[in-house]
Amino acid sequence: MFIQKAWRTAAFGLYGFTQFTKSGFVEHAKKFREEDMKIRLDGKNCLVTGANSGLGFATAEGLASRGATVYMLCRNKERGETALSEIRSKTGNMNVHLEICDLSSINEVKSFATKFSSMEKPLHVLVNNAGLLEHKRATTTEGLELNFAVNVAAPYTLTELVMPLLEKASPDARVITVSSGGMYTEPLNNNLQYSESDFDGTKQYARNKRVQVALTEWWAEKYSSNGVSFYSMHPGWADTPGVAKSLPGLSEKLSGNMRSNDEGADTVVWLALQPKDKLIPGSFYFDRAEAKKHLKFAGTASSHDQIGSIVNSIRALCSLPPNP
Ligand SMILES: NC(=O)c1ccc[n+]([C@@H]2O[C@H](COP(=O)([O-])OP(=O)(O)OC[C@H]3O[C@@H](n4cnc5c(N)ncnc54)[C@H](OP(=O)(O)O)[C@@H]3O)[C@@H](O)[C@H]2O)c1
Repeated sequence: MFIQKAWRTAAFGLYGFTQFTKSGFVEHAKKFREEDMKIRLDGKNCLVTGANSGLGFATAEGLASRGATVYMLCRNKERGETALSEIRSKTGNMNVHLEICDLSSINEVKSFATKFSSMEKPLHVLVNNAGLLEHKRATTTEGLELNFAVNVAAPYTLTELVMPLLEKASPDARVITVSSGGMYTEPLNNNLQYSESDFDGTKQYARNKRVQVALTEWWAEKYSSNGVSFYSMHPGWADTPGVAKSLPGLSEKLSGNMRSNDEGADTVVWLALQPKDKLIPGSFYFDRAEAKKHLKFAGTASSHDQIGSIVNSIRALCSLPPNP
């Protein structure tokens, strides 16, 4: 067990330092096709969570610059308004709107979903981007461990509750969840609230990101006949405010070799633009290509069998009725 964990960390480090950096992006970009990014999104509605900063901001800007109507979900009104006016002035697209919701509160997510659904507009693209890595154990007023609340419970609840809007945009609708290569270091674990006494925020973050990848597979299967497709992705290591705050050591070590926010968001925008017959539902993408979900000999693959029971636990923790 100890050897396997050490192997996972070493293999992840090697993979990361060669592929997730800026130089990895530059190398992979040699195969990118310029025309892929020329597709327009006029008349399409996109909802991006955590859109005021880092990768969410770059994604919202990328979608707005291609004519989409973009709803930027942010938790802080002031930061949201600043980002909104920056995107409107940079893209000239006035169909960009601000929505306020603190995703650490599942009750707020439910209220937001009700309000957003009352517009009765089709939702073509949902980007579950907002996320955080909190090193110290904190519990929300609703009793959820904070990383789990924002990284798993909120995107799960939001996605399920806006499903009727996504179905309205069928067969074109898609959900893109911004996971992380950090998930390579952890198998799926049903201790969602990380109740062990030795809380480790980095490990909890990796577990959350693993849930997102397994959930994407599960959703893809569950909703395969509804015309809604699901993809997860890894942005690589991008120099965002979130990384500077939560992983200052990584920022320092990779100084000069971190991806820009646009480079980190590139695959999110690409996934939003491509015709669906080019994409593989339930897959994990990295640099515009399907990527492996498990590192060799890491022993994480069979853990995905637990996703059904994990979904039931998430629903119970979020006070959602049992899965229909
Ligand atoms: N950057 C990387 O190298 C990297 C690598 C792998 C995965 N990712 C993933 O990429 C996503 C974006 O991260 P980032 O690097 O762009 O970090 P970031 O700059 O910190 O952006 C995170 C966004 O999420 C929002 N957010 C956090 N907690 C929230 C809450 N309770 N309610 C609503 N919004 C909330 C933040 O809002 P505030 O500004 O108000 O805090 C911010 O807009 C995350 O899911 C992260 O796990 C990033």
